[in-house]
Amino acid sequence: MKNNFLTKTIICSLFFSGLYTHAQKTTLVVDASKSITKIQPTMFGLFFEDINFAADGGLYAEMIKNRSFEFDKPLMGWEQPNTKRSSMNKESGSASPVKLSQEKNNSNFCRVEINNDKGYALINEGFRGMGVKKDAQYNLSLKAANHNGGVKKIIFQLIDKDQKVIGETSIIPKSDQWTQYTSQFKASQTEAKAKFKITFEGNGTIDLDMISLFPEDTWKNRKNGLRKDLVQLLYDVKPGFLRFPGGCIVEGRTLSDRYQWKKSIGEVEERKTMMNRWNVEFNHKQTPDYFQSFGLGFFEYFQLSEDIGAEPLPILSCGMACQYNTGELAPMDELDPYIQDALDLIEFANGAVTTNWGKIRSDMGHPKPFNLKYIGVGNEQWGPDYIERFKVFEKAIKAKYPNIIIVSGSGPSPDGEHFDYAMAELKKLNAELVDEHYYKSPQWFRENAGRYDNYDRKGPKIFAGEYAAQSVSGANPNNRNNWECAFSEAAFMTGLERNAEVVQLTSYAPLMAHEDAWQWTPDMIWFNNLESYGSANYYVQKLFSTNKGTDLLNITKDGKPLIGENNLYASAVKDINTKEIIVKVVNTSQSPQEVNLDLKGTKTASKGSIITLASANLNDENTFTDPKKISPKESEYKVTKGAQQVKLPAYSVTVVKLKYN
Ligand code: AHR
Repeated sequence: MKNNFLTKTIICSLFFSGLYTHAQKTTLVVDASKSITKIQPTMFGLFFEDINFAADGGLYAEMIKNRSFEFDKPLMGWEQPNTKRSSMNKESGSASPVKLSQEKNNSNFCRVEINNDKGYALINEGFRGMGVKKDAQYNLSLKAANHNGGVKKIIFQLIDKDQKVIGETSIIPKSDQWTQYTSQFKASQTEAKAKFKITFEGNGTIDLDMISLFPEDTWKNRKNGLRKDLVQLLYDVKPGFLRFPGGCIVEGRTLSDRYQWKKSIGEVEERKTMMNRWNVEFNHKQTPDYFQSFGLGFFEYFQLSEDIGAEPLPILSCGMACQYNTGELAPMDELDPYIQDALDLIEFANGAVTTNWGKIRSDMGHPKPFNLKYIGVGNEQWGPDYIERFKVFEKAIKAKYPNIIIVSGSGPSPDGEHFDYAMAELKKLNAELVDEHYYKSPQWFRENAGRYDNYDRKGPKIFAGEYAAQSVSGANPNNRNNWECAFSEAAFMTGLERNAEVVQLTSYAPLMAHEDAWQWTPDMIWFNNLESYGSANYYVQKLFSTNKGTDLLNITKDGKPLIGENNLYASAVKDINTKEIIVKVVNTSQSPQEVNLDLKGTKTASKGSIITLASANLNDENTFTDPKKISPKESEYKVTKGAQQVKLPAYSVTVVKLKYN
C-alpha cells in the first residue's frame, strides 16, 4: 500500500514539473535602480454611464419606477389590477395622470378616485421588481393632497411574488394641500422581485406625487442615496478617476436630449425626467421603461468621486449630437450656451461659496470645493466639425481656468481615417489629453499590447477612456465577460502600464449592467435588484489598479519588452510608499509556464506575496451563482537564491510583490 502511494506521488510530481520544464523558460530582468517615470495616480479609473439601468434601477437606490408619473406614458410601471371593474361599475377606484402646469419641470401627478371600493390598489413594479431584504428598514416618502378629506388612510405594502405582504406602513393624509409624508418600516422577508402596493380607506379624491421608497442602508447611510453593494465594488477598485456621465449619453440622439448638468442638480423633485437615449438605441434590446430621473445627478457624482477617492472627470456636450444618430450640430455662432455650461460646471465644482454656482453647491451641502482638475469636451465625435468646436471650447476654458486639464476626443475607433485625422489635428493643437476608445476582439488586445511603445513622448498624453474586449463583435448582444476577454485586456494593460509616460488615464467600459434590463454587453459589474458581482474583467482592473505602484520600472527579456513572445506579457513598477517591487506577468498560453525574475539594483526581503488570477477555460465567467469563480488568490512567495522563479498557470495573470530595502 505504502509503496503504491509513493509511486503515485513521484509520478504526479514528475508530471507537474514536466509540464513546467517542457514549457519555455523566460528570464525577465527588472531594473529596480531607475524610475522611468511616475505612474499617475489616475492611471486606472472608472467610466460611468447611465446605460444598462446603471443609474435609475442601479446605483441610485430608488425602488419606485416612475415615481412622479413623468414617463411618456404617465402610468408606466404602475398597475391597477381592478381597473376593469372601474369601467363597468362606477363604485370603484381608479387612478389617472393629471398635469399641474406646463411650466413646472415635473408637472404630472396621479389623481386617485375611490368610490366605495375597498379592493382598489395601485401597484408599482419597481425596476423589473424590487430587491427587498429581511429585517432591512425602508424609507417611504410621498406628496399627497386629500381633496375633501374623504380618504382616511393610505396603506403601503411590499408584496412578494405570491402577493404575500412582507412589509407594511400607512399614513393619514390630513391636508387638502400638497403635503409631504414620510414613514419607515421593516421588511419581514428577502425577496428579489417584490412590488409596492398602495390601497386606500375611505371615499374621495386624492392626488399623489413623488412616491418614493429607498432602503435605509445606503452607501455612507446617505438618505435617499446610492446602493451600498455597488458603490463598495467601485470603492474596492481604488479608482484614480471617475468619468461621468458617459458615453453617448453626453451627446444625446439630438442636441435637445443631450445631458445637461444644470438640469441634474437642486431639489430632486425639480430635476426634469427625460427618456434615456438607450431606451430605443438597439432594436434587439429595446427598454421602453428606461428614463432618467437625475436623482443621481452632478452633485451626487462629485460626492461619489470624493467618497471613493477618485478624481472627477466630467465629459460635456460640445454642441454635437451623437454622430451614430442625428449628428445634429449647434452652429458655430450658437456655441455660447454649451461653452457657458462647461465654465459654469467648473464654478459649480470649484467656485467659492460667494460665486453663483459655488453657492448652489454649498446650499446642496458641500461648501468645500470638489477640486475638479479635468473636463472633457465632447464624447466620441469625429471630423472637422469636432476640431473646429474643440478649439473654441479650449480657448474659452483656458482663458478662465488655465489649470484645468482639457480632454479631447479621437472618435469611436483606435485607427482609421477619423482617428488619424483627429490625432494629427490634436497634435498640432498641443492637446493635453486625448481620449481613445477601443471595443475590439480579445486577439486585437493581445496583438496591440505594444500600441503605445512608439507614441511620441512629447505629444499629447493619452486617456484610454473606453475599452473592453468583445467576445463576438462590438456591441453584439451575445458578447460575454469571459476569461479570454479578461486576460487579453490584462495583456494589453501591461502595455498601458509600460507606457505610463504617455498613457495617464484608462477605464474599462461600460461599468455596470442590470441582469434583466441591459442594452450593452460586456460590462464590468453585473447586478440584479438584490445582488451584484464583479466580472473577471473587474478583477483584472482591480488587480492593476490596486497594484499600480508609484514608479515605472524597466522589465525586459533579452533587452526588449515582453509583448507576446511565448504568449507572455510583462510590466513592472515599484511603490515608494509600501516599498515594494511589483511585477505583473500575463500568460495567455494554454500551458503553464515558468519565468525567472532577475531583480537588478535592489535587495529584496526573502518573502513576498504572489497573487494569481486564473481559470482553466477561455469561456469561464463569473455569475450570480458563482460570483468569485475567477478572482485573485494570494499566497506567500518565497525568494530563492539567484534568479527567482515564478510559476504561471495556463491562462493567468500573476502579480509578484516583493519588499525592497
Ligand atoms: O460604452 C458604451 C458606448 O460605447 C458609449 O456610450 C460610447 O461612447 C461608445 O460608443
